[in-house]
Formats: sequence, structure tokens, C-alpha cells
Amino acid sequence: MGFDWHRWHAAYGDPAHPLLARRACVSAIVRDTMDAAPAGPIRCLSLCAGTAEDLAGAAAGHPRGADLTGVAVELDRELAEQATGHLATTAPGMRVVCGDAARPSNWFDGTPVDLLLLVGIFGNISDEDVRATVAAVPSLAAAGAIVIWSRHRREPDLTPTIRQSFTAAGCIEAGFESPGPGEWSVGWSRVGTTTGPTGQTGPTGPPAEPLFTFIR
Ligand SMILES: C[S@@+](CC[C@H](N)C(=O)[O-])C[C@H]1O[C@@H](n2cnc3c(N)ncnc32)[C@H](O)[C@@H]1O
Repeated sequence: MGFDWHRWHAAYGDPAHPLLARRACVSAIVRDTMDAAPAGPIRCLSLCAGTAEDLAGAAAGHPRGADLTGVAVELDRELAEQATGHLATTAPGMRVVCGDAARPSNWFDGTPVDLLLLVGIFGNISDEDVRATVAAVPSLAAAGAIVIWSRHRREPDLTPTIRQSFTAAGCIEAGFESPGPGEWSVGWSRVGTTTGPTGQTGPTGPPAEPLFTFIR
């Protein structure tokens, strides 16, 4: 039997659970990104979005919520339905795809984006897949886009390596927040100008499938 993601999401119902602080951190970064975005659509992609309450919470009551446009991808049907409900009223330009986020063919035509959420992924895939996913970021996001990611900091703490990987992918770190070692962390970076394998700039085409494999 696969991992119970419904049960995992139930932790958000516990006011003392650290996941709430993590989600609040993500929502604050999304709000800051919307505050700073030029007028017009804010193209957004959230992979493994769960119930999308990080995005919906940020968009609720925000004057740019209606400018969010793009895709939230979630594999579990019930969670995807909840995400649809949360986004319908707060960010009606967002569409929920119930499908495999590791398959860019499910969402790549929405890229490049201005805001990319990779939240709740890096703790569930191999270190090699983390590296490959970070390396793919410039092919998914426009220059200047904000990419938000999360990872627990249990030993061995992979976050220093992840932060270096974003730099190696041409991104500039904009922030990193964590209550401390062993706890959650959220990092966010500004995507640099993409340089493809042949020296061209701009997004370079979809990354190879699967982008990652969940190992729990
Ligand atoms: C750790 S939770 C994170 C959810 C949300 N991003 C958050 O931070 O609250 C991981 C989510 O990924 C979903 N998931 C697992 N494998 C997936 C896949 N291949 N494609 C899309 N979603 C997937 C799970 O159903 C679950 O909702």
C-alpha cells in the first residue's frame, strides 16, 4: 500500500504542528512575489500541490490573486479536488491537473512560469532526483522567476547541497528559513537567465521524464 497522503495532510489540522509554520512561510513568499510582480498574469506552477492551501492562502484577499494563472499538479484525486475548491475562489486562473507531476508532458505547456512551487517534494525523492529536479528549474521558469522549495533538515541535512545546486543552476538565493537543525526548511531563489546546452538562452524544452520518483 502506498503512503497515506490524506493522513499526512491531516497534520495541518493540528494548530501546534510545525507544518503550519512551513505553509505560512510559503504563503508569505508567494504574497511577496505577487506584490513585486509587474501588472498582468503571474504564471505559476505548483508540483505535488496537495490541497494547494499555500497558494490559496496567499491569494485569498490579495489584489493580485486573480492574476495567478497556471497549473497545480496533484496525483491524488481527493486532494486534487480539494485543491480545486481552494483555488476556485482565491485564484480562479489556476487549474488543477490530477496527474503525475513527474511527467512534464502533463503540465509543460504552461511553462515558463514566474512562480514555481516545489514544496513537499525534496524530502520524498532520492538525492539524485533532487539534483536533477533543481537542474531542470531553468527549463521550467522564466529568468527572474521565483522558485520555492522545501526540505526537512534531519541528518544528513541535504539543504546545504540543495542550496548549492540552485546556485549551480544559475539561480540567486533570495531566502532560506528554518526553525533550526532537524526541522523543516523553506528556500527560495530567483531564477537566472537560462543557458542551454548549445549556449542558447531561455527555456530549453521539457526535461526528461520522469523528473523524479517518490520513494515513499
Ligand atoms: C508532502 S505532500 C506536499 C503537499 C503540498 N505541496 C504541501 O506542502 O502541503 C506531497 C504531495 O505529493 C503528492 N504526490 C505524490 N507523488 C506525486 C506525483 N508523482 N505527482 C503528483 N503529486 C504527487 C501526494 O499526494 C501529496 O499530496
